[in-house]
Amino acid sequence: MKILDAEFVKGFIRLCDDGFRQNWHERNGGNLSYRIKPSEVEEIKEELTKEKPWQPIGTAVKGLAGEYFMVTGSGKYFRNVILDPKANTCIIEIDETGEQYRICWGLVNGGRPTSELPSHLMNHEVKKEATDGRHRVIYHAHPTNIIALTFVLPLEDKVFTRKLWEMATECPVVFPSGIGVVGWMVPGGRDIAVATSELMKKYDAAIWAHHGLFASGEDFDLTFGLMHTVEKSAEILVKVLSIRPDKLQTITAENFRDLAVDFKVALPEEFLYEK
Ligand code: 13P
Ligand code: ZN
Repeated sequence: MKILDAEFVKGFIRLCDDGFRQNWHERNGGNLSYRIKPSEVEEIKEELTKEKPWQPIGTAVKGLAGEYFMVTGSGKYFRNVILDPKANTCIIEIDETGEQYRICWGLVNGGRPTSELPSHLMNHEVKKEATDGRHRVIYHAHPTNIIALTFVLPLEDKVFTRKLWEMATECPVVFPSGIGVVGWMVPGGRDIAVATSELMKKYDAAIWAHHGLFASGEDFDLTFGLMHTVEKSAEILVKVLSIRPDKLQTITAENFRDLAVDFKVALPEEFLYEK
């Protein structure tokens, strides 16, 4: 099968275009990675080259040894992915030590995988383990409202979780484990990758203060849907705070407990404190 005909490649490209249309990807902002299934690697293996050199990842992901990923390129624009996927994305293989990668397809005009490769791969490693291999997508975007909130709310998991849950009834059903927050850090390296992947042991989404959001999910729909839900909720919160910060009414801790019963989700009590 031709790589561009593979369903996962179509899903990858569609997410990039959808994200750009949401205004989450100014310039080269944001990046996306997908852990390719062995059966999918088998279908496209004719087009994969083993000739490119191994390169250091910048961290160790032993749990991903031998895995293949589709990843956006560093400095590449999400708006261009749909026009020329071969120039703006790549497929990489991880070596047996989990410390190196090589490009097997794509980035035909040169370049390298996203500068956030350490964060993507460390998140994948944590999520693969935590979900028995079900999570395959890690998505980083720069959604406006979530970023705006990181200037005015305390940078605490419990504050962001409770406030975002409160803005839309179905939020706790979409991200019942809550949302983590990483204080401002230099992006693109191992340190921010370690901090983010630590939070991903507990949550499916992690905010980077004054920068953006990372989301993890089983497939492109669920991962895009999570990003979309969190940002929509943040938009409502920005509007509420702008209209009148003293709400007249809201969803209470007791309301959340009732919701949890009917929707059969476990909502941690740490986020249901009375205010
Ligand atoms: P890349 O172009 O290297 O993917 O970086 C974009 C970005 O959002 C960094 O956090
Ligand atoms: Zn970014």
